[in-house]
Amino acid sequence: MNYNKKTVKDVDVKDKKVLLRCDFNVPMAKDGSGVITDDKRIRAALPTIQYLLDQGAAVIACSHMGKPVATFESYKKKQLEKGKDEASITEEKWKKSLAELRMEPVAARLSELLGKPVILADDVVGPDAQAKASALKSGEILLLQNTRFEKGETKNDPALAKAMADMAEIYVSDAFGAVHRAHASTAGVADYLPAVSGFLIQKELDFIGGALASPKRPLVAILGGSKVSSKIGVINNLLEIADTIIIGGGMAYTFSAAQGGKVGGSLLEEDWKDYSLEMIQKAKDKGVKLLLPVDTVIADAFSPDANAKVVRSGEIPDGWEGLDIGPETVKLYCEAVADAGTVIWNGPMGVFEFEKFAVGTKAVAEALSRTNAITIIGGGDSAAAVQQLGYADKMTHISTGGGASLEFMEGKELPGVACLLDA
Ligand code: 3PG
Repeated sequence: MNYNKKTVKDVDVKDKKVLLRCDFNVPMAKDGSGVITDDKRIRAALPTIQYLLDQGAAVIACSHMGKPVATFESYKKKQLEKGKDEASITEEKWKKSLAELRMEPVAARLSELLGKPVILADDVVGPDAQAKASALKSGEILLLQNTRFEKGETKNDPALAKAMADMAEIYVSDAFGAVHRAHASTAGVADYLPAVSGFLIQKELDFIGGALASPKRPLVAILGGSKVSSKIGVINNLLEIADTIIIGGGMAYTFSAAQGGKVGGSLLEEDWKDYSLEMIQKAKDKGVKLLLPVDTVIADAFSPDANAKVVRSGEIPDGWEGLDIGPETVKLYCEAVADAGTVIWNGPMGVFEFEKFAVGTKAVAEALSRTNAITIIGGGDSAAAVQQLGYADKMTHISTGGGASLEFMEGKELPGVACLLDA
C-alpha cells in the first residue's frame, strides 16, 4: 500500500469549505456528566485545525463518538441479544444512550483549546448542519454531530458520503484512530471530493510506517496484552520484519501451555496453542529472536491485593494465575531493548491496572525511556499504560490509534488512508 499521500499543504484551502474528519472519540467519565477524562485526541488534531483556520479555510469538522445505535429497532435488537428483558427496553433509555454520545463536550473543549468559538450543529447532514455549513465563513469552525448518529455511517452509505461532501469543497482526513474503518466519513466521502491528509495522519504514517518499512536496526517488537487471537496478525507480520520479538502479558501463557507448561488458572486460549507453536517455528526459520517469559508473578486471585509469588514459567500451580512477568524476565527484556535501534511496543506485560502487577510493564517502559532507540507505542492499552506510569514524554511516538495502529502493524490496508490522493 502507498502511504505517500497528498497533505493539506498540497491544496489551496483559502476561502474554501473544508470537511475535516477527526477522531474525537475521547474517553468520558462513566457518570454521564460529560467530563472528558483524556483530551489527547482533541489536542492531537489542533495543528491541522489551526493550520486550516490560519490559511483562511472554513472548517467543517466531524467525528464519531462511541458506538451509538442509530435506530430504536436496532437498539432493541442489541439489548435483547445481551439478554435484557423486553419490557425494560424503552425509547427513553435509547435516547439517553444517544444523548451521552453527543458532541457538546468535545465542542466545548475544542473551543477552549483553540481560544475561539466552535459552532455546533444539531445533526450530521440534516437542516441544521446544512444551514450552519452554508453560512460558515473563512476562519470559522463548525463541528457536526456524532457521525454515527446517521445509520449510513458505518455502512459506508454513498448517499450519506455525498451529503457530507456536498457541504464542502475539499476533504481532509486527520482521524488516524479511525483509518481502519471504511465508513462514510472516513473513506466514502473521498469519492466525491479531493481528499488529502492532515498533519496527525502524516505523523503517524511517518513514525509507524517508517519503523515498519525501513527501521533503524535492530528492530525489537514487544507484544503483550491478553490474547494471542487478537495479536496473531501483528506477530505474523512482525516476524517478517523484526530482529527480536518479545512476548509478554496474558498471551504468554498460551505459548507456555503450547510448549507443555503448567499455567494454572492463567488466561489460556486452547484453540491458539498450535498457532503459538507455528510462530515459535517461524521465528526459528526466519532467524528472529523470539523471547518468552522465563518466570512469572502469580496470584491466588484476580485482585489488586491478591497474594503473589514468583515461579518459573510453565510451573504455575492450580489455584494460581499469572498476572505479570517475573524479575528474571524483566532483566532479559530490558537487556534486549537496551541496544535496539527501534522498539515497537503493543500491549502491556501484565495487569498494570493493579499496582502489584504493574512492575513488569513499568520496568519495560522505564527501559524504553533510557534507550537511544526510536520508541513507538501503539495506541490503546499500551499508550494508556505508558501514560498512567508517567513515561509518556520519554517516548518518541505514542499513537493515537488503538485498532488503527494494530491493523497498521499487521500490514493491512487502511481504507481511510488508501482513499486519499497519492502524492
Ligand atoms: C478508537 O477508539 O480506536 C477509534 O476511535 C475507533 O473507534 P471504533 O473502534 O469505535 O471504530
